[in-house]
Amino acid sequence: MDKIVIEGGRRLEGEVTIAGAKNASLPAFAATLLCPGPFTFTNVPDLKDIDTIIALLKDLGAAITRPEKGVVVVDTAGLKSYEASYDLVRTMRASCLVMGPLLARMGKARVSHPGGCAIGERPINLHLKGFGAMGAHTALDEGYVNITANDGLHGAKIYFDIVTVTGTANVMMAALAAEGATTLENCAREPEVVFLADMLVRMGADIKGAGTDRIVITGGRPLKAVETAIIPDRIETGTFIAAAAITGGSLRINRCNPADFEAVTIKFIEMGCTITEGNGWIEVSGPKRPAAVDIETAPHPSFPTDMQAQAMAVLAVADGTSVIHESVFENRYMHVAELRRLGADIRMKGANAFVHGVPGLSGATVMATDLRASASLIVAGLAAKGKTSVRRVYHLDRGYERIEEKLKKTGARISRQPDK
Ligand code: EPZ
Repeated sequence: MDKIVIEGGRRLEGEVTIAGAKNASLPAFAATLLCPGPFTFTNVPDLKDIDTIIALLKDLGAAITRPEKGVVVVDTAGLKSYEASYDLVRTMRASCLVMGPLLARMGKARVSHPGGCAIGERPINLHLKGFGAMGAHTALDEGYVNITANDGLHGAKIYFDIVTVTGTANVMMAALAAEGATTLENCAREPEVVFLADMLVRMGADIKGAGTDRIVITGGRPLKAVETAIIPDRIETGTFIAAAAITGGSLRINRCNPADFEAVTIKFIEMGCTITEGNGWIEVSGPKRPAAVDIETAPHPSFPTDMQAQAMAVLAVADGTSVIHESVFENRYMHVAELRRLGADIRMKGANAFVHGVPGLSGATVMATDLRASASLIVAGLAAKGKTSVRRVYHLDRGYERIEEKLKKTGARISRQPDK
């Protein structure tokens, strides 16, 4: 296991380049199960979760090559299984994204039921409700979800009781094999859902309305393999905005898409950042001390839950009290106890965090508990006086491509060390 060690208190200055988005890559890779043929992906991030989805696809029979950095070629012509094993699914719950494509391609899927995780119970009942509405039968058997559509799938009207990102992706992919039209209501509008729909349309699918809360899929169209460039990671981008904000630094962030994270940009401007944006880049300068702001997380286009922990780290040193309400996950506050170890003054009241800004944080050893909590602790460590050691950074490596190297290039005194 590794740890990240930071000597805090240095202003960041310089440029960073954003990698491809984890949460766009995973559904796109799952979509290769929909039809045979070589799918070429470029701008693929070098992340643990990408290795996991590749291992899962290989397990199912896919042929995969990685000809050069950032390029992955997947061909599922040799698909030989419809079962996603417990060992693979337990390491990455997004493995459940293979359910929809396997159901569409093979008429069945057997996927280990993803358990909960640090941030919440994270059920998949709405994914299964969608498959069932199209005529599939789902049953739990020894911890596996068995999904079968012996009589094929038919179009349906499906309403998502709660906005679900991977639920929208999963059911949209299954609907490609349904006879007739399927309407999805109260869909996720995340850029990653729009990206997936764009890819499916280029494959030959008939999908309308992606990016709105109503998507209509007309199934039965022949599909073919395509070449796809993964969109930039808006959460990695937001994490660097937070790093500039907390250190009063100035960063030029390249290869990002400002339109994908407007709520984040607006919030950090409210905190006192100066942010200019252009085609594929933004420049952010942090204030001397951030102003306190309130944050409510909600599905896109609202402030993303995946940026809540990083924003809290910045607000921990703001001038005033901020109220953060996490409305998406019921337990996404694991970073609070660790931020307190750095001197943050945060009071919890149900789903609300009252963050009383302190003049400064002081370094300590802290423990990463989940992906975005680990990013939050890195951001806090950049400003904390003295040394901060963030342990269990395997969480970080699931979603950030060598973040310590990118931060070091902008002046941070940061290193990755073995954690004995
Ligand atoms: C996706 O997870 C992202 N992961 C998450 O990013 C992100 O936090 C989340 O969307 C919300 O934006 C990927 O895209 C791989 P949801 P997902 O289904 O799809 C409830 C990160 O840090 N729900 O949108 O699993 C659920 O419990 C990760 O990169 C049901 O009740 O999230 C939650 O409260 C973390 N039943 C809410 O909906 C269901 O069937 C939103 O979950 C499905 C979801």
